Amino acid sequence: MSVEDVYAQFYRIVRLGQLTLSDGGGPLGFDISLAIEIDWVLTNYSCDAIIETGCHLGDSSEYFARCYSHLQVRACDISPVSVQICNHRLSGLSNIDITCSDSREWLRGMVERFSLPFIFLDAHWRSESPLREELACIDRGVICIHDFDIEHDRFDYDLYNGRRCDAHFLADSAIDKSRCFVNNPQADYPLPCLQIGRRSGRAFVAAGVEPGILSNCPYLRAL
Ligand SMILES: C[S@@+](CC[C@H](N)C(=O)[O-])C[C@H]1O[C@@H](n2cnc3c(N)ncnc32)[C@H](O)[C@@H]1O
Repeated sequence: MSVEDVYAQFYRIVRLGQLTLSDGGGPLGFDISLAIEIDWVLTNYSCDAIIETGCHLGDSSEYFARCYSHLQVRACDISPVSVQICNHRLSGLSNIDITCSDSREWLRGMVERFSLPFIFLDAHWRSESPLREELACIDRGVICIHDFDIEHDRFDYDLYNGRRCDAHFLADSAIDKSRCFVNNPQADYPLPCLQIGRRSGRAFVAAGVEPGILSNCPYLRAL
């Protein structure tokens, strides 16, 4: 899509997540810079699907489905209430399917259905996260880990059982560092970010595919 397409869809999405999320909700934590990074990845890798773990109230899911209406979008959440709300909210969109499941049971089978999915890992709640097990499920895809520590004051991150979601976490998960990139706060984005509250760092991982493409992304830097 073009930057104009991203812009046109992004600010049309209701920030339902404001009911519960510390960043006030909105697609991708209301950080349009992340939307631009993802658009670059989807285009340059020619991804054939979008998979999201932890869709909560569907702010990012709706954005994905509307902006990428030519792609299949699949999402899960462990909370039956969240999934009920998402299904109601997204009932008019034919390219999205939401499943009530623990991502650890759902993700592997979903990844296997597509040639090269983009996978947004955002399933966590308070200090608990299935991230390590999720990473072990993915043998092919371009992954984005939300709430990752990029060691920058403006970008927050999560702690799981007291441990930072950071480079050491990935190393312990047997992820090859040469395949990992993080958002670059110095990058020149084509649109301003209007999130004045919490922003989250993110890591992108090329799993089973050429990481050289990610290394050329103007919005990312090596981990
Ligand atoms: C931070 S919210 C996700 C926000 C959402 N991605 C968005 O952009 O609006 C985290 C969600 O992960 C879900 N979750 C936590 N553990 C999970 C698990 N093991 N499997 C699936 N979902 C999980 C929670 O129920 C919660 O709705």
